[in-house]
Amino acid sequence: MRISLILLWACLSQLTLMAQTLRYEVHDNDLVHPRMYKERRERVLASMSPQSIAIVFSADVRNRQNDVDYEYRQSSDMLYLAGVPSPGATLLLVPRGVKIGQKIFRTVLFIKDRNPKQEVWQGVTMGPAEVIEHLEIDTAISTQYISDVLDSLLPSTDTVHLSNMPTRALSVPLTSKNIYADVDLKKWLKARQPNLIVKSPMAVLARLREVKDSAELRLMQKAIDISMEGHRLTMQGARPGMHEYELEALMEYAFKRQGAEDVGYPSIVGSSYNACILHYISNRRTTQRNDLVLADCGAEYHGYTADITRTFPMNGTFTREQRLIYNVVLEAQDSGIAASKAGDPFRAPHKAAKDVISKRLMELGIIDSADHVGRYFMHGTSHYLGLDVHDPGTSGPLQVNSVITVEPGVYIPEGSPCDKKWWNIGVRIEDDILITADGPVNMSGSLARTVEEIEAMVGKAP
Ligand code: GLY
Ligand code: MN
Ligand code: MN
Repeated sequence: MRISLILLWACLSQLTLMAQTLRYEVHDNDLVHPRMYKERRERVLASMSPQSIAIVFSADVRNRQNDVDYEYRQSSDMLYLAGVPSPGATLLLVPRGVKIGQKIFRTVLFIKDRNPKQEVWQGVTMGPAEVIEHLEIDTAISTQYISDVLDSLLPSTDTVHLSNMPTRALSVPLTSKNIYADVDLKKWLKARQPNLIVKSPMAVLARLREVKDSAELRLMQKAIDISMEGHRLTMQGARPGMHEYELEALMEYAFKRQGAEDVGYPSIVGSSYNACILHYISNRRTTQRNDLVLADCGAEYHGYTADITRTFPMNGTFTREQRLIYNVVLEAQDSGIAASKAGDPFRAPHKAAKDVISKRLMELGIIDSADHVGRYFMHGTSHYLGLDVHDPGTSGPLQVNSVITVEPGVYIPEGSPCDKKWWNIGVRIEDDILITADGPVNMSGSLARTVEEIEAMVGKAP
């Protein structure tokens, strides 16, 4: 009975929509084809047992202050499986199907109804009708029906797979309490069906998202191309005395001008000692003539991000020490890229890069034992890349059509136990590597990388 009300509601919502004057418009002609989303959902459904269901939630809108929110970015699992941009959408996958009205569906998207009053402030959003029209989801209905539909399904369900939730949604001041969304949700589900097995995150999504399909590789190459142009313009526009944020502005101007919706992560632009801080993002310092600058910046395009680092001398010429360290990192990166082979262990590029850095830092007298290499190279060499800068994956043998970063670095902050001529040199070189059956392909390989190429570019704005 309840479920047939849903059909009635769907008809009414169509009528209401006809009365609305604003139409949902799509401005990009290079979006992922809905067929690809369908294929991905079919793969998830095929991996599920008959009595299980999967629920994929959207990210929350995050409040910034008062009535101002942060710009919204959909959660990556939802982007991957449905391409729905709106907050508050929930995707339900049911291998055995769920009856809605007179029909059985294996995929249902719950989404907020369009609200003409809110659209005056926020513009046109997708409602159920727009999702069906543009994204070819089997069916889409209002979020208000989600608990009714789950109530109808849970008695015959043995396992629920939940997409990633924020582990800690909120910390409550003074009370030492944290609100854990996943714990509360699990309680809600168990209250309805005590024997339920709840699994989160969905392991199948890590497996699927690790290996990119053709639509993903196309968008990743676009994000990478945009980012390479940003790095070029930044190096070309660099002049000693600029603030780090001016370099950041050159970078992000180039990203936005080429259509990137956002950065994939906050831009890291660190000069001198700031280059030794791995995730330095304040970018306020004024650069000096002899500084090295480390710029780790990637554009996000249609949800996919690049992750590229270049390190360059502000005045266009590496000092002797800067050049020596730069070439150690470059050799380590070459070695890491060469070790990025399908079927080899995920850690193979790291081992290759670390071996080079240990050996060369010992030769330069910066360390006296390979055991101390972690003092100056304190992070891993690779992570998966895709919708997230640190994309999910299995960390198993490298798979054809996965994309990893290869990003060795050497960071020698002031006060390090070595000759002070090395102090305040921080170098990272990071590229985005596609694993293929024929060997690694550097998707960001056309960006200046050697000492000579970098020196020919810095400060040479056309
Ligand atoms: N940009 C963050 C990282 O390289 O992992
Ligand atoms: Mn990275
Ligand atoms: Mn990076």
